[in-house]
Amino acid sequence: MAYINENYNKLKAGYLFPEIARRVTAFNQANPEAAKRLIRCGIGDVTEALPSAVLKAMHAAVDELGQRESFRGYGPEQGYEFLRQAIAQNDFKSRGIEVEADEIFISDGSKCDTGNILDIFGAGNRIAITDPVYPVYVDTNVMAGNTGDADESGAYAGLHYLKCTPENGFVADIPSEPVDLVYLCYPNNPTGAVATRAQLEAWVQYALKHKALLLYDAAYEAYIKDPSLPRSIFEIPGARDCAIEFRSFSKNGGFTGVRCAFVVIPKGLKGKTRDGGTQAIHPLWSRRHSTKFNGTSYIVQRGAEAVYSPEGKAEVAALIEHYMGNAALLVEACRKVGLPVFGGQNAPYVWVGTPGGLSSWEMFDRMLNQANVVITPGSGFGRAGEGYFRISAFNSRANVEEVCRRIAAL
Ligand code: MLT
Repeated sequence: MAYINENYNKLKAGYLFPEIARRVTAFNQANPEAAKRLIRCGIGDVTEALPSAVLKAMHAAVDELGQRESFRGYGPEQGYEFLRQAIAQNDFKSRGIEVEADEIFISDGSKCDTGNILDIFGAGNRIAITDPVYPVYVDTNVMAGNTGDADESGAYAGLHYLKCTPENGFVADIPSEPVDLVYLCYPNNPTGAVATRAQLEAWVQYALKHKALLLYDAAYEAYIKDPSLPRSIFEIPGARDCAIEFRSFSKNGGFTGVRCAFVVIPKGLKGKTRDGGTQAIHPLWSRRHSTKFNGTSYIVQRGAEAVYSPEGKAEVAALIEHYMGNAALLVEACRKVGLPVFGGQNAPYVWVGTPGGLSSWEMFDRMLNQANVVITPGSGFGRAGEGYFRISAFNSRANVEEVCRRIAAL
């Protein structure tokens, strides 16, 4: 009999979103009439159709695969050059940010990338995460054996929690002690907070001083409207020596079902070895990709490339405007009923304080049962999320307007 990875036994309950789905299914079965008016603002899943530029590119790619002359089998594991070049040019160089095409690794999603990245780090790192946090960062560290057990509050021994509250604007304060790996996500999931340039500069200074590595998740950068806010950690001087960035086509191009993302690893970025030496990280991730991944589908990469065409850019801008219009309505509706509201300005998530001291899950139940609206309980993102809930702005305008009416009527 094979030994199992017993670290999995340390995980608390189910992963947040399947747990919500389970509760919603139970509600729907018990309340078939109410189920018909259910509106889902839980998981941040896009609802609008793919940009037509993307569709055209994917159709053309399918046709190419249908001809022997233009057929393609396995592609480069790190991604096709056409997409890596398009990303380097449009997301970085055109904004004056130094990132080369061969520092970009195409993948099938940021969830996978932020989890898989632990493959290239050794045991014994001091790991800092924000609280609340995207649960994948925590659970993958638990699975990898980088934590001890969780206490009754759900906090894992061995993790450094950086509490995010209204007092710090939900942007993590610099830790008082040195750590080795820090997960940061801006625009933030779940709070919708965005770090300012000064705040990211402080993080980069901290990382350089303590030789820490920042794992910077910028999956929602397309939602930044305020031009003074950084969209990439590599806008900050020094970041090339201390940061890895994760980006995704899920929330800009609407690829949550199509699947395409990328990781940026500067070639000069280093980690340390047990014998006191240092070693470049870029070749490790490249090796990992070659061994464990056969590349994102050609069709999908052609679709992602089309996000950067003039037509694609205009369509993506319209999608973002649509979702941010939803966010503005949700912010307004919550404010009108006197709830404390955060986020929703430069992010597609609205983070709301629960009324009357309700717990996050009590609020989830109330929204489900009384308003027939699915939200995400803040406590699912960590202890500091207790007393909050998250509303996703990914929906049709009609649904969001209806959610606003139901919030007013609660
Ligand atoms: C969320 O709702 O937090 C996101 O959809 C999760 C994800 O992108 O994996």
